[in-house]
Amino acid sequence: MSLASPSLIARQSSAPGTRNLEPPAFLTAAIEAALARIDSVLPAFTDAWPEPSSIGGMYRPMDNTEWTNGFWTGMLWLAYELTGAERYRAVAERHVDSFHDRVFQRININHHDLGFLYSLSCVAAYRLTGSQKARGAALEAADRLLDRYLPQAGIIQAWGDLTDPDEAGRMIIDCNLNLPLLYWAAAETRDARFSDAATNHIRKAQTFIVRPDNSTFHTFHMDPVTGEPKFGSTHQGASDHSCWARGQAWGISGFPLNYRYLNDPTLIATSADLADYFLARLPDDQVCCWDLIYTSEGVQRDSSAAAIAACGLLELAAFMPETEGAKYHNAAVRIVESLARDYASKAGDPGNGLLKHGVYHMPKRIGVDEYCIWGDYFYLEALVRLHQNWVPYW
Ligand code: GLY
Repeated sequence: MSLASPSLIARQSSAPGTRNLEPPAFLTAAIEAALARIDSVLPAFTDAWPEPSSIGGMYRPMDNTEWTNGFWTGMLWLAYELTGAERYRAVAERHVDSFHDRVFQRININHHDLGFLYSLSCVAAYRLTGSQKARGAALEAADRLLDRYLPQAGIIQAWGDLTDPDEAGRMIIDCNLNLPLLYWAAAETRDARFSDAATNHIRKAQTFIVRPDNSTFHTFHMDPVTGEPKFGSTHQGASDHSCWARGQAWGISGFPLNYRYLNDPTLIATSADLADYFLARLPDDQVCCWDLIYTSEGVQRDSSAAAIAACGLLELAAFMPETEGAKYHNAAVRIVESLARDYASKAGDPGNGLLKHGVYHMPKRIGVDEYCIWGDYFYLEALVRLHQNWVPYW
């Protein structure tokens, strides 16, 4: 199988945050294997989406009601950019119709994950095809995300109703990836309410979620009335004071993605600090354990966190001077090479995902040692980032 030319958008070599480096040797085979797996599941996931994580290596189909639906649609846009093949675009455009209906009918959108959902589906569609329907849906999603902004605390509340006493004032590190939707909406509408909310949130995350040793809390609670910081806690990590690997990866990737819009060099410095903490805790094969208190062989890995971190390291490196950035770029290549060799599905493997050995929620024992759809997405995003000068959907 040969890859057709990538699209014009991806080929812009002057795009900010991109770097022309020689692609690593393993890359073409890894991309071909990923595209073959996507093709094999495309009929099953044309009018349905994979569930967040597989069971026994098989994703079951579901409707457009989870926080994770954008990842599969985003993979189709990535596959379209890699190949120019209309079959991916056609399905992704059907999905845009569904995302449009979902946001206007307010179906399961009472949470902060609107960036994961709408950057990867509708912002991507708008950037790649100019779809006004996609643009309208993404702007509506940004509006709903802005509804969750708590002005006293200066944060976007992650989960639950804004009046829910357990959730009021809680921000989480994952939200770093939801903020680019707000910056995009600000640029589209020239309405600074979107960018002001995102800027206040990212600064609070920098101040309170990042600990002095450059590990991160998964979640942090602010007083929604006084705006005072309260305490950090975990939701998916080993303990309140451990460092959940995927949370650290959301931090490594999210700070430089926000830098694209905010242009504040402290965001690059914070990402580099988080990256140094992360890289110092990798087992020999470069794929992190599910919580960074564990560094040894024999502990459950989270390949999805590794893939997210790799994308973040590439994003970070691209905004650094070449000599400084090379450390992070090369670390990303080592991680992706390990994923491609030992974690990615090969032709004929059982199951219907891309990246084995992910973890969704260890404390609740959900999706442990399974495919996770965000792991599949970020693995493919990392391959695309290594293959071409890619403009993020974020
Ligand atoms: N954002 C939820 C998770 O990473 O599981």
